[in-house]
Amino acid sequence: MRIVLGVGGGIAAYKVASLLRLFTEAGHDVTVIPTEASTRFVGTATWEALSGNPASNSVFDDVHQVNHVRLGHEADLIVIAPATADLLAKAATGQAGDLLTNTLLMARGPVLFAPAMHTEMWQHPATQANVETLRSRGSAVLEPASGRLTGADSGPGRLPEPDAIFDAAMALVEGQADFQLPLAGRTVTISAGGTREPLDPVRFLGNRSSGKQGVALAVAARNAGATVRLLAAHMDVPPPSGVEVVPVETALQLREAALAAAADSDVVIMSAAVADFRPAAVSDTKIKKRDDRDDPVITLVRNPDILHELVELRNSAAPGGRQQLIVGFAAETGDSDGDVLAHARAKLQRKGCDLLVVNHVGTDKVFGQDTNSVVILARSGSEPQEASGTKTEVSAAVISRIGHELNSVSPRP
Ligand code: CTP
Repeated sequence: MRIVLGVGGGIAAYKVASLLRLFTEAGHDVTVIPTEASTRFVGTATWEALSGNPASNSVFDDVHQVNHVRLGHEADLIVIAPATADLLAKAATGQAGDLLTNTLLMARGPVLFAPAMHTEMWQHPATQANVETLRSRGSAVLEPASGRLTGADSGPGRLPEPDAIFDAAMALVEGQADFQLPLAGRTVTISAGGTREPLDPVRFLGNRSSGKQGVALAVAARNAGATVRLLAAHMDVPPPSGVEVVPVETALQLREAALAAAADSDVVIMSAAVADFRPAAVSDTKIKKRDDRDDPVITLVRNPDILHELVELRNSAAPGGRQQLIVGFAAETGDSDGDVLAHARAKLQRKGCDLLVVNHVGTDKVFGQDTNSVVILARSGSEPQEASGTKTEVSAAVISRIGHELNSVSPRP
């Protein structure tokens, strides 16, 4: 496929090098057209080396090839990233002062804009009107991601992650009517890893959760366009880029973080392995062996069921308020009382969440592994959905199901 990649003059231009790599590694022929301002951030040498094609924004280079007509005409896809406020305005008003804007006017194939700018510029009525104009003419304009911007500020305006732009571009070319990222404009809170319940300053009760599934879910949600908050209990893997990380240690800390985060979340996914019990007393000093005393006996008390509380909180909210989808995970082994699915169905009823992702566990299964096999049960009673593969593939299936549930309940904001 022939792709024209227009690079706007924003700091996020450096991230577009990864996007270019994704396109070329997928076998596409990419011509980069960097605006003059963008070359202050990333030089044309980078684009030429990575794309293997000349990169210029001048209508007077290679005039005999009539580039200002040819590139737009021949392109199967045009992607503009970062689409600055200036580029959106130029595209919306049909300006043609350089090669990139000429190419946009000549385009006959799909055009995707991936905006990046400060929140105030994105939310300005002028920019919003330009976005609306472009969308009304059939161009695809992604919602920017939320998060840390160039300075100390944060909010909507970050360039969506290269993976997300790549996925949206491919979906657009494949003519998917609903090419928009399924979780664009949504806030998703995901708990991941295993909680640790302290006994004394050096010891804790923990569990075998690696956090891999939660992190894979965070990546999938981020790539689906969501603003992601990762409530990270102990994890063996680093958190991904482009998500807000809230570190927690114990079940009680996770509860506090989850209830706070739920207030403005469209989706809450509890994939963390939460300790059901914690030591009734935590010693301030290290518990020592003593020959003159009996060995210590640890008394445990119940931790709150966070998932259940989240459901109760959501259900008690005023009718007509924010629709929230709550997703639980269940690790089941099956026993003499019932098989994995029977236990899972009972848990779904007990917890009251909308979806329950059920893992079949054994000591050699799931924990720390890269592959997984799950069944997604819905409270609505629809057929159980199976998903298996790498934790990345399973996460993509779970996030896609969540997108489907959300978008069939309420329209995208
Ligand atoms: N969970 C929770 N709070 C707890 C325990 C679990 O929010 N105190 C959540 C988990 O994050 C998961 C779901 O509940 O989404 C199910 O966890 P699981 O350990 O399988 O269920 P339990 O309620 O602990 O049931 P049991 O151990 O009796 O099977």
